[in-house]
This record gives sequence, C-alpha cells and structure tokens, in this order.
Amino acid sequence: MSDQANQLREEVMKRIHPNASGKKTKVIAVTSGKGGVGKSNVSLNFALSLAALNKKVMIFDLDVGMANIDVLMGVTPKETLISMLEKKLSLNAVIETGVNGLQYIAGGNGIGKILTLTGNQLNHFFQEFGSLQGKVDYIILDTGAGLSYEGIRFLQAADDVFLVINPEPPSITDAYGVLKALHTRNAQLPVKLIVNRSTNTEEAERTARNFQKASAKFLDKSIDVLGWIPDDPIVRKAVIAQSPYLLEYPNSRAAKVIDDLVHTYLDFPSNYKLGVKGFLTKVLFHK
Ligand SMILES: Nc1ncnc2c1ncn2[C@@H]1O[C@H](COP(=O)(O)OP(=O)(O)O)[C@@H](O)[C@H]1O
Ligand SMILES: [Mg+2]
Repeated sequence: MSDQANQLREEVMKRIHPNASGKKTKVIAVTSGKGGVGKSNVSLNFALSLAALNKKVMIFDLDVGMANIDVLMGVTPKETLISMLEKKLSLNAVIETGVNGLQYIAGGNGIGKILTLTGNQLNHFFQEFGSLQGKVDYIILDTGAGLSYEGIRFLQAADDVFLVINPEPPSITDAYGVLKALHTRNAQLPVKLIVNRSTNTEEAERTARNFQKASAKFLDKSIDVLGWIPDDPIVRKAVIAQSPYLLEYPNSRAAKVIDDLVHTYLDFPSNYKLGVKGFLTKVLFHK
C-alpha cells in the first residue's frame, strides 16, 4: 500500500464520528453465487420486516448493473450512489425514502463504475459511509452475485453475510464458490444461509444440510441456516405490482416466513458485532 493511499485511509478512519450513544450499526451483506435467486426481494422484505419492529434500517443497492431496489418499491430516486460519487455529494443528499418510510440508497445506472472508482472517490464513499455510525441500527447491502475482487472485499467486512441459494445445483455450486472466497479472506465471517424458492420443507432442509456439510467438510466452517422461503407466486405478482410482498400480501406464506427470519436473526448472539467502524477498518486495511 502506498504512503499516499495509507494517509487517505487514516484520514477516513479519523473522520468517523466517535459514537456518543455507544449504539452500533450492524452491517448485513446479502449475496449469492448466481443472479436472480432472490437477493433483492429478500433484502427489501427483510428490511421492511425489521423496520416494522422499530429498528432503523437503511438499504444500499450495490448490485452491479442490476440496481433495482427502487423499482421493487415503485419509487424513483432523485439521486443515486453513482451521482453521489460523480458529484461528490454527501450521503445525506442521496438518502431516499421508499415505501413505509424505508431509507435507501439507489444504485443508479452504470453502477458497474463502482468497480473502477478512483482512490479519491472510494475514500469519499468510505468517509460518508463512516458518518452512518450509530445513526441507523442496520445497514443492508444488497450486493451483486458472483466474485469480483471489490465485491469480496465488501462482503468479508460485513458483520453478517446472508448467502441466498435456490435448491437448484448451479445456485448451490456457485454459492459454494463465494463462500470459499469469503472464507479465504476472513475465516471468522458469520455466514447465514437462506434457501429461497423451495417447494417444500424437505427439499429446503436437504439443500441447507448438504450445503452445511460441504462447508464443514471442505472449509472446516460451520454456517448457520436462517431459514427457507417458499416458491410463492405472490412474489412475482408483487414484483410486477412494484410493491414488496410484505406489504402487498402480508398474509402470504412468503411474508410470514420473512417475519420469522427476522426473529430468528435477532435471536442469534451478536457479540461479534463490529459495526460501521469495523466494516471500514476491514475494507480499508484488509484486516
Ligand atoms: N420466493 C420466491 N418465489 C417465487 N418467485 C421468486 C421468489 N423469490 C424471487 N422470485 C422471482 O425471482 C425474480 C428475481 O428476484 P430478485 O430478488 O430480483 O433476485 P436477485 O436480486 O438475486 O437477482 C423475482 O423477480 C421473482 O420473479
Ligand atoms: Mg438484485
């Protein structure tokens, strides 16, 4: 790392506000091996369910080339992550309000650019990200699928990674690839599995068990299972209606399961909580 880069990184860390209330912000990254497995729908409905429990939640749309949290809510953002970086705006200027008052940062067009940011842009982003310390309870990063270097760097720095898989073999093998890459970077990273689009309990449990077994056998890593979401036609209907199923179909099985996932998640011990500062330390210093 060059001296200049190091200096910039130190600068970012210095500017993170010491947290007066002592309240930490937990960073959850939602990812998958391949695209289209349901990450954005999980991120959004999970966020809404958490928010319904009076938690302050913010979603970041970081899905490269497929930024669509706003579309799933039927809202149009004024500013996006891309415009924040291009115009050097503050994070406050790009926080948008979606359905039910949910705060979100839209990805914007050409979000692929985030992979080719200049050092200054990246530091601007991290400085602004640091300002969120203690301001919200949860930051949910809806990340892209697959294995870019920057993507892995972000993911391994989160407090929790939700790995979304479907019961189909390609989704499982690709997800295993992501898990392996993450584990190589950060063996302590808590990874929680969500099986989406399963047709029955047996299939979901078998899928989760096989994944856990492979992880234990080849990586010596134990991963928790957060739960499984049924393949439910209302999900597609809600996507078409541009209204999250938790709100559009609150009595559906999928919505009930999301509420259960949130409760299961909140029941997990959170003593590994690192927060925004921990996230930035790891991203910036590769710790
Ligand atoms: N539980 C589910 N049941 C039925 N269809 C689903 C479910 N989850 C996702 N889908 C379908 O998959 C599509 C892709 O979901 P999305 O959340 O955008 O995936 P990703 O963010 O991983 O690319 C949705 O538009 C929806 O049609
Ligand atoms: Mg998505």
